[in-house]
Amino acid sequence: MTASIINGKEVSQELRASMTAEVQQLSEQGVVPGLAVVLVGEDPASQVYVRNKEKACHDLGFYSEVHRLHASTSQADLLALVDKLNKQESINGILVQLPLPGHIEEKAVIDAIAVEKDVDGFHPVNVGNLVIGDDSLLPCTPAGVIELIKRTGIEMSGKHAVVIGRSNIVGKPVSLLLQRENATVTMCHSRTANMKEITRQADILVVAIGRANFVDAEYVKPGAVVIDVGMNRLDNGKLAGDVDFESVKEVSGPITPVPGGVGPMTITMLMQNTLIAAKRAHGLA
Ligand code: GUN
Repeated sequence: MTASIINGKEVSQELRASMTAEVQQLSEQGVVPGLAVVLVGEDPASQVYVRNKEKACHDLGFYSEVHRLHASTSQADLLALVDKLNKQESINGILVQLPLPGHIEEKAVIDAIAVEKDVDGFHPVNVGNLVIGDDSLLPCTPAGVIELIKRTGIEMSGKHAVVIGRSNIVGKPVSLLLQRENATVTMCHSRTANMKEITRQADILVVAIGRANFVDAEYVKPGAVVIDVGMNRLDNGKLAGDVDFESVKEVSGPITPVPGGVGPMTITMLMQNTLIAAKRAHGLA
């Protein structure tokens, strides 16, 4: 059996098309969603991500500001910029690209972003709201994962979902979102014993560990939905997921490829968060 491929690029395009229509309606009411992206230093991967975010804003008709700061920028200067953006009415979302240079404490910067403008969903108040099930801005990659599972048409309620990886950015929040969808969730990580025995029970398997091709067919129950959050650069320059796509697709149900699966969804969900934040700021949500 060969699995169906979940096309994240196509889902992204559909979501962006419906957002474009909404942005047009909002602009008639004088509301233009605004996103500020802050990049400190010249990390090549971060530069690509930031350019893609700028382009997405442009394509969707958002207002955008990109602040490119020198790698030697002090924490105090970065916090002063965040404070200015917190107060700026044209800005509804603030994203400080991570990782930051070593002399800057990431937590201090994330904590300084206004909760209602935290479109990454990284602020402790947004994380706390996610845990207790209150309204919050959801972290982008986990929200994208849930959207892709929904698009398969496979019900999450009552299913066994297994998440490999326990990062703050993906593993932990995605497990909370799966619980919110009434899945029964098990988390696996680097110290989990007998991991294959657990993952082989998964109806839905989400993998976010940052190890190229770690999950092969032996980890997967026939017909399971497999979502690969990994983005690993191989020595030959190619991008590989955490899942060995070629072997797993022979046993799994719907599966995301890398690239073209979860990746395109992250920026789309960032745009959606910015749109939500803009509507809330104008009392429209
Ligand atoms: N660096 C890599 N991914 C992300 C992300 O989702 N948000 C931020 N702020 N930085 C990142």
